[in-house]
Amino acid sequence: MSHVLAAVAWPYANGPRHIGHVSGFGVPSDIFSRYMRMAGHDVLMVSGTDEHGTPILVQADGEGLTAREAADKYNRIIVEDLAALGLSYDLFTRTTTRNHYAVVQEIFEGLQANGYIVSQVQMGAISPSTGRTLPDRYIEGTCPICGYTSARGDQCDNCGNQLDPIDLINPHSKINGETPEFRETEHLFLDLGAFAEALGEWLDSREGWRPNVLRFSRNLVDDLRPRAITRDLDWGVPIPRDGWDTKRFYVWFDAVIGYLSASIEWARRTDNPEAWREWWQNDAARGYYFMGKDNIVFHSLIWPSILLGYDGKGDKGGKPGALGELGLPTEVVSSEYLTMEGRKFSSSRRVVIYVRDFLSRYEADALRYFIAVAGPETTDTDFTWAEFLRRNNDELVAGWGNLVNRSIAMAAKNFGAIPAPGPLLPADEELLATAKAGFATVGGLLEQHRQKLAINEAMRVVAEANRYLSDQAPWTLKGEDQRERLGTILHTALQVINDCNTLLSPFLPHSAQKIYELLGGAGVLAPMPRIVEVEDLDGGPGYPILTGDYSGGAWESTAITPGTPLQPPTPVFKKLDPSIVEEELARLGG
Ligand code: MF3
Ligand code: ZN
Repeated sequence: MSHVLAAVAWPYANGPRHIGHVSGFGVPSDIFSRYMRMAGHDVLMVSGTDEHGTPILVQADGEGLTAREAADKYNRIIVEDLAALGLSYDLFTRTTTRNHYAVVQEIFEGLQANGYIVSQVQMGAISPSTGRTLPDRYIEGTCPICGYTSARGDQCDNCGNQLDPIDLINPHSKINGETPEFRETEHLFLDLGAFAEALGEWLDSREGWRPNVLRFSRNLVDDLRPRAITRDLDWGVPIPRDGWDTKRFYVWFDAVIGYLSASIEWARRTDNPEAWREWWQNDAARGYYFMGKDNIVFHSLIWPSILLGYDGKGDKGGKPGALGELGLPTEVVSSEYLTMEGRKFSSSRRVVIYVRDFLSRYEADALRYFIAVAGPETTDTDFTWAEFLRRNNDELVAGWGNLVNRSIAMAAKNFGAIPAPGPLLPADEELLATAKAGFATVGGLLEQHRQKLAINEAMRVVAEANRYLSDQAPWTLKGEDQRERLGTILHTALQVINDCNTLLSPFLPHSAQKIYELLGGAGVLAPMPRIVEVEDLDGGPGYPILTGDYSGGAWESTAITPGTPLQPPTPVFKKLDPSIVEEELARLGG
């Protein structure tokens, strides 16, 4: 039993999220958190919308909205979509709360007090046609390190290095192609080089990380240079320094601190405002950070550096800030990319399916199943409608749904209730043992973020149960003298279904709750998040949060009760017509 922080990447509030986004961070972190809670851990799962920075400004401009209006609009849409997917955040908040501003400023003060903030005059890019600051990520050019020709001003996606726009060879604006002008401007920098040694030691002590995440991070440690944490913008967290009111903190600096500020906000909304400390200041606590691979460097190098600096553990020493010493991540759990019918997701080219549209036509668990079994866990993977149809119809419906439906229907018809078992035969004992053993195997895999193997193991038990039913052919047992054997087979099948349902509940919480109730379960097996409209804790505007009471089932086999009344069920999963493939392909842009 321990305290487990599930820190989930914060989606930008610059548009609705598509299924690629939720397959990278949302669904995997929820599967993990649900399992860990069932296994008895104290999980704190936090995130929110990432609302600062130029992505939001650009979107707002395009829609004729203020940044605040755009952030409000997409925050709400994202909250609703994540709720519909059943993602069990203890708190899903946003980066525009007063609490967040205060925590970001406190972390900055701590870094500064320990000497890790330096100020430098830098060359900033200005768009000659508008006179406005041209954000780093809207400048493209050739990477000075690896020669990649589509490097962005903030980062090279080819070699992974952090860049400054002025370093690019042949810089040009992605918005209109013009060459930016560079002017002097003063900025604050986080002295990342001062953490190289501590980061190296920390990375060397990591166990069980996905090898590419560790390798990628380790390779960058020796090249760390001071990194600007402020921007010439008026949208962002204010810098608590006189004369800096035309600048704001860089969006990534404030966003990663969100994991801490959201934990604090969560605690402040309970009856123990200090409760967050259990997840941040307790040696036995573990912190898992979930994201897509373009976020790795921010979580494996920059966020740990911020924490080391605040704790006073870089080359310049220092002492922990007012909040006390804060723990570093246990593991950075990064997924790879999901593509869509062989192409990169792109909203502008309509190579996209938004979560909302998806859920208007298909069940949340159908998407969750696809992501768990075929998502980009450790390699880039492709979403195709044909494969979605096949996985849904052949595996979810024909494998799992059919097992549930035919077993409950047969028991309802013959007994009207869960039958009591007679003497067990070896085949019955074997199947029951296989299902029980699933708790250790599936659980062990989930704890190590091997979700594909985990769901395959659970589905293997389902397949064994289907084979058992075919072998035992209970439908042929019609005589009065065969009634006890019929009851034993159906009891065994229902017990194994109950176990499989528990094993599958982290992946498929909506259907797990239904099946649990079909078998007479009382209360909650798989809890769901709710949307609550709250006041800002410190007087800012109100907003919707996701939260919930997530006490649910335990990760163990629970015995079904003979005599529990059963109704003939309606199908738990929907079989899809093959025509959906053509229909959906027609919706995509050419
Ligand atoms: N908004 C970023 C993205 O979508 C992720 C931010 S995660 C953070 O890529 F919490 F670290 F900020
Ligand atoms: Zn490069």
